[in-house]
Amino acid sequence: MSDPDVDVVEFMLTTQLFNDRRDLDPDDLPPAYRAPFWSDATIERPLTADQGAIAEATDVERPWEAISSLMFTDRDEFAGTVEFTDRDMAEEWFRKRVDADHVNENPVLAAEWEDQIDGVDYELAREQNRPARADRAFIDALLDDAFGNDGEDEEDGDNMLDLVDIRAPEEVQMTMDQLVLTPDQEGEIEKIVKAIEHRDYLARIGLREIGKLLFVGPPGTGKTSVARALAHDLQLPFVEVKLSMITSQYLGETAKNVEKTFEVAKRLAPCILFMDEFDFVAKTRSSDEHAAIKRAVNTLLKSIDEVSLIEDEVLLIGATNHPDQLDAAVWRRFDEIVNFPKPDYGMRSDILRVVTQQMDIDEFDPDELADITEGLTGSDLRLVLREAVLEALTEERTTLTQQDLREAVTDFEERDNLKNLDMIEGDHDALVAGGDISGAGDSDAEAASDGGHDHDHDHADHDHDHDHDHSDDD
Ligand SMILES: Nc1ncnc2c1ncn2[C@@H]1O[C@H](COP(=O)(O)OP(=O)(O)OP(=O)(O)O)[C@@H](O)[C@H]1O
Ligand SMILES: [Mg+2]
Repeated sequence: MSDPDVDVVEFMLTTQLFNDRRDLDPDDLPPAYRAPFWSDATIERPLTADQGAIAEATDVERPWEAISSLMFTDRDEFAGTVEFTDRDMAEEWFRKRVDADHVNENPVLAAEWEDQIDGVDYELAREQNRPARADRAFIDALLDDAFGNDGEDEEDGDNMLDLVDIRAPEEVQMTMDQLVLTPDQEGEIEKIVKAIEHRDYLARIGLREIGKLLFVGPPGTGKTSVARALAHDLQLPFVEVKLSMITSQYLGETAKNVEKTFEVAKRLAPCILFMDEFDFVAKTRSSDEHAAIKRAVNTLLKSIDEVSLIEDEVLLIGATNHPDQLDAAVWRRFDEIVNFPKPDYGMRSDILRVVTQQMDIDEFDPDELADITEGLTGSDLRLVLREAVLEALTEERTTLTQQDLREAVTDFEERDNLKNLDMIEGDHDALVAGGDISGAGDSDAEAASDGGHDHDHDHADHDHDHDHDHSDDD
């Protein structure tokens, strides 16, 4: 944050005040301060500020060196702890060096000084502070408890990892301001944010059928990104279920794991439970899949019925590329359908502006590019830009030109045509291999038959299956 001595003193003061004031709980500690003290999903008093804990919480590598010249500090070399010889003096010293805004970022201090410093507001500080249950350490402890890798259940735990992926909000990279939304999407999101905020009111008036959204739209239109950005912006854990992982591989355990996933979501609540590839459910219901898979899907539908934003604080978001495959039983379970169309002219222009924010581009004219990219999705536009950046790098340039971008669009369209050609010929294997167009370096006919390139794309947070997207297009 600021100066190492201020940071270390703040941490020491905070731990001492927290130990004294039993009216405060771990949600009052700033997240970084909690990190050294997590143990089995709890944080217990007393917090001991040894040098290791101080270093972890403050990022000050040598805490003692930072404060050794202050008159009111001392250390116990043997125990590795540092302490105040005069806490009043420490408080006085600290308060001279920070303002109300700074104190408002630390609810423990805000609680202590609310009545003494103008502009310090404990309620505000607590509201702005990320709650303890959104910490990675807490999530891990919960997972361990639910699916524990404690010997007998080991297999179970491993299977779960394929089916469900849980991220702390701090680990979600996407934010809403990186995304360009339609007015309709903005409206739906606004409603949900309000519903979460006024949950008690909605419960009181008996409005419970709220908080199950279905995102519908073609691949690459931002469904997964919006769900993640919501988690990030609302500071909620993000529980992602990969429905296609409900396969005959695990048979008996799958239904149980589906139930456990909902249990975990309820214990993590408030959180977002995101279910990608929701069409999988409909497909399974209508085909003659293995009985165990059908059972798992029925368990899933039942669990969806039983979970509630109002009662359990779980926001459920489903996503699908194939709304046509969903039957009435599935539609009925969602109270809002959010459409993710391919971006129109204005949106394409805005997306180009957003994704180029950190780039140098001479004579950049997003409107002109929007004009020649009809039919491209947000994901396509990102790929176009990536290609342009890489092309320029081959000429040792990090400043792009509008012309580079135009050429990248043309290249992209050539490759896209190629893809469609393959589809007409029914050569699906080639299509899948080349399906990740970004992975193929060349724009000529070689690209589509180059089967080795289908899994080499590197965006770690975006690993959906392209063969799934295409399997029903014929
Ligand atoms: N409206 C948009 N604004 C900004 N970026 C977008 C938009 N739509 C898509 N993108 C970008 O495209 C990429 C892919 O988007 P995302 O994975 O969210 O699509 P999706 O709808 O979930 O696709 P799929 O159906 O294949 O899972 C992301 O990097 C995202 O940032
Ligand atoms: Mg997606």
